[in-house]
Amino acid sequence: MSTFRFWQTPRAGNMARLALHTSKLPALADNHLRIKVHAVGLNFADIFALTGLYSATPQGAFTPGLEFAGEVQEVGQQTQGFAVGDRVMGVTRFGGYTTVIDSEADYLIPLPADWDYAQGAAWPAQTLTAWYALIHLGALQADQQVLIHSAAGGVGLQAMKLVQALGARPTGTVGSEEKAAWLRQQGFQDVLVRETDFARQLQRDERRFDLVLDAIGGKVQIASFDALNPMGRLVVFGAAEFTPSHNRPNYLKAAWRYLRRPRYDVMEMISSNRSVLAFNLIWLWEQKGKMQVLLEELQTIPLPPPHVGHRFAFDDAHAALTLLRSGQSVGKVVLEATPDPA
Ligand SMILES: NC(=O)c1ccc[n+]([C@@H]2O[C@H](COP(=O)([O-])OP(=O)(O)OC[C@H]3O[C@@H](n4cnc5c(N)ncnc54)[C@H](OP(=O)(O)O)[C@@H]3O)[C@@H](O)[C@H]2O)c1
Repeated sequence: MSTFRFWQTPRAGNMARLALHTSKLPALADNHLRIKVHAVGLNFADIFALTGLYSATPQGAFTPGLEFAGEVQEVGQQTQGFAVGDRVMGVTRFGGYTTVIDSEADYLIPLPADWDYAQGAAWPAQTLTAWYALIHLGALQADQQVLIHSAAGGVGLQAMKLVQALGARPTGTVGSEEKAAWLRQQGFQDVLVRETDFARQLQRDERRFDLVLDAIGGKVQIASFDALNPMGRLVVFGAAEFTPSHNRPNYLKAAWRYLRRPRYDVMEMISSNRSVLAFNLIWLWEQKGKMQVLLEELQTIPLPPPHVGHRFAFDDAHAALTLLRSGQSVGKVVLEATPDPA
C-alpha cells in the first residue's frame, strides 16, 4: 500500500469544507510506528474544531480526529514496545480521520484481544475524560451522589459506568425520553430528562449532589452548581450549548451565549464551601510524561468495552458528524475503514 486516504478541511469555519483526499505515504520517521487505521472515534471536539469554535483549532488546513484503533504495519528503527501486526489504540492531537497514521509509541496502547477496532477507537478520549473528571479533579468517593449530564453520550456513559463501578451513585441527565429509556435498560435507574427550567426541576425533586460533571454550560450548569452539597465540586469540560445546528456557526448566537456564560464568585464559593474545576485534555498532548501516566491508568480502569452506538463507513464522515452534532447519538460514533480485499 503506497497511498492513504484522509479527511481534511482547508480551514475551520464550515463543516461542509471537509473533503476526502488521497496522498502518497511518506517515508516512516525512525521514532514513529505506522498504523493501518481500522476505526476512528468521533468526538464532540471535532465539531467545534471544524467550525472554529474550539480554542485548540489549528490554523489553516487540518485533519480532524483525536483517536483511532488499528494494526501496526511498520516500525521505525528507533521505536520500541510494539511489533508489526500488533493491534493498538491511540490518541493524536488532530489527524485521526485517516486510513494510515504515523505515531510515536508514547501515544499508543495495546487493544485488548477480545475488543474490536471500533471499541478500541471508542475508548481512549472519552474514558480518559470521564476518569480525569471523576478521579483526578472530582476526587470521587464511594457513596457520593454524582450528577452526570449527557449521560447517554460518549463521555457521559463512561462516567455513569465508572461511578457505579466505584461504589458511588450516578444520576444521569439526557435531552430525550428515548435516551432515558435506553439508559434505564442499561441498568441506570436514576435518569432525568432535562426540563426547560432545569433549576426548578432539581428544586422540585429536592435533588442534591456531591459532584457534578458538566459539558453543557449555561443555565444547566448554574442550576447544577446550585444543587451541590457543601464540599461539593462542579467539574466543567465542555460547552455543548454552543453547538452550531448547521455547518457554520451562528456567530451572533454564540456571542450572546458567551456573554451570558456562567461566572463564579470565589468569595461565595468560600462561604458555601463548593468549588468549580475545569480542564481540557488536549493540553496533555504536549505533556508527554503526564499523558503516559494517564494512558497507563487507562489500562487499569475496571470497565467493559465501550458502547459503540453508531458505526459509519470511513467515507461517510459527514453523515457521522451530522448525527453527533444533532445531539441524538447514544454512546460512541465511529468511522470504520473498509478492510482490504483478501
Ligand atoms: N475538555 C476535554 O478534555 C474534553 C474531552 C472530551 C470531551 N469533552 C466534551 O465533553 C462533551 C461530551 O463529548 P462527547 O464526544 O462524549 O459527546 P456526546 O456526549 O456523545 O454528545 C454530545 C451531547 O451533548 C448534549 N447536548 C447538549 N446541548 C446540545 C446542543 N445544543 N446540541 C447538541 N448536543 C447537545 C447531547 O446530549 P443530551 O441532550 O442527552 O444531553 C449530545 O448527545 C462535549 O461537550 C465535549 O466537548 C471535553
